[in-house]
Amino acid sequence: MTTATAFDVRAIRADFPILDTQVYGKPLVYLDNAATTQKPRSVLQALTDYYTGSNANVHRGVHYLSGKATDLFEAARARIATFIGAADPKEIIFTRNATEGINLVAQSWGRANVKAGDEVLISGMEHHSNIVPWQMLCAEKGATLRVVPILDSGELDMDAFARLLTSRTRMVAISALSNALGTVNPIETITRAAHAAGAVVLIDGAQAAYHMPVNVAALDCDFFVMTGHKLYGPTGIGVLHGKAALLDAMPPWQGGGDMISSVTFEGSTWNVLPYKFEAGTPDISGAIGLGVAVDYITAIGMDRIQAYEHELLAYGTAALLDVPGVRLIGTASRKASILSFVMEGVHPHDLGTIVDREGVAIRTGHHCAQPVMDRFGIPATARASLAMYNTREDIDALVGALHTAKKVFG
Ligand SMILES: Cc1ncc(COP(=O)(O)O)c(C=O)c1O
Repeated sequence: MTTATAFDVRAIRADFPILDTQVYGKPLVYLDNAATTQKPRSVLQALTDYYTGSNANVHRGVHYLSGKATDLFEAARARIATFIGAADPKEIIFTRNATEGINLVAQSWGRANVKAGDEVLISGMEHHSNIVPWQMLCAEKGATLRVVPILDSGELDMDAFARLLTSRTRMVAISALSNALGTVNPIETITRAAHAAGAVVLIDGAQAAYHMPVNVAALDCDFFVMTGHKLYGPTGIGVLHGKAALLDAMPPWQGGGDMISSVTFEGSTWNVLPYKFEAGTPDISGAIGLGVAVDYITAIGMDRIQAYEHELLAYGTAALLDVPGVRLIGTASRKASILSFVMEGVHPHDLGTIVDREGVAIRTGHHCAQPVMDRFGIPATARASLAMYNTREDIDALVGALHTAKKVFG
């Protein structure tokens, strides 16, 4: 296990058993972290331990195991609250993923607060999960979706943002970090301006949460979503953080067990936060696993992870630009370790396939951000996304594989 005293990438790699995998007889080079990250042994062990020693339903039984499962589940909530600087664990709603968190806000807060003539402001670099729920809400309510355009660098056009933010704007929903471009958005400035205009702010932190420190209290955003599987945690678990006053005022989204305080056939009353928004049996092991993932990150230190990844990004950027015909899509001055690129004469899909044969896993396609591809006039990009366990050798392997692809396509 790594300690807080040194950023030792070899020791970190040893914590991730999957990194020893051989692919077509070559060592795996995993560069698809923006899609999902790999899991450290402590998270895997926590899942096994839960099912072998603590499995029971939560908040239901008086028996020993139910109490134990509930304690583990709620302790995970508290640790996640601390991790993102939430004022209170009751502001942490467990969801399936980031997508569900955004849908919850759009359906619950949105239906109650957005009406005909209102506007929802998003950006041109949003993941589909931060576009479609707002489109659906606007269609239902007769509201208008406005989009902040992207500059050629991959940065948001902040002059356009200032123009598009008006007294009609009810919600500003923006990603802290673009999965398709790597751009780090100025969410502090955006949040301040949105509040001054009377709008509510949702930050999509699906990418940001595993690349940089997050403090929702300091940021003062109203809602923040993240997704466990990108945060070195299990799939099937996500987090919606909301300010308690807003969550309290919102109607429940899904009905069922746990979210009620009483039920009769005449009507039901709602449970307190956070349970009002957690209908049905939650992903108990997922939440516990995510709590352990957060412990793992905290022990290493998010600041150090960020600094290390930044070095890798600089190395990777220079290395890719050295490959003839490679063009980076997304050259913002503030970027996290995501490298989207195209290569002259080779379709990204073919590139991905050839590179895979060399053991290198990258993502190719539109990355669930089709409007970004349209903006840059390309059908797709190849994307290498780096996490704390990646090394310069991984980038060298990618570059070698790109040269191989170049030869294949002449
Ligand atoms: C910026 C961003 N937002 C939202 C999501 C959606 O995450 P999930 O599919 O886990 O809900 C992703 C996933 O790639 C993402 O990159």
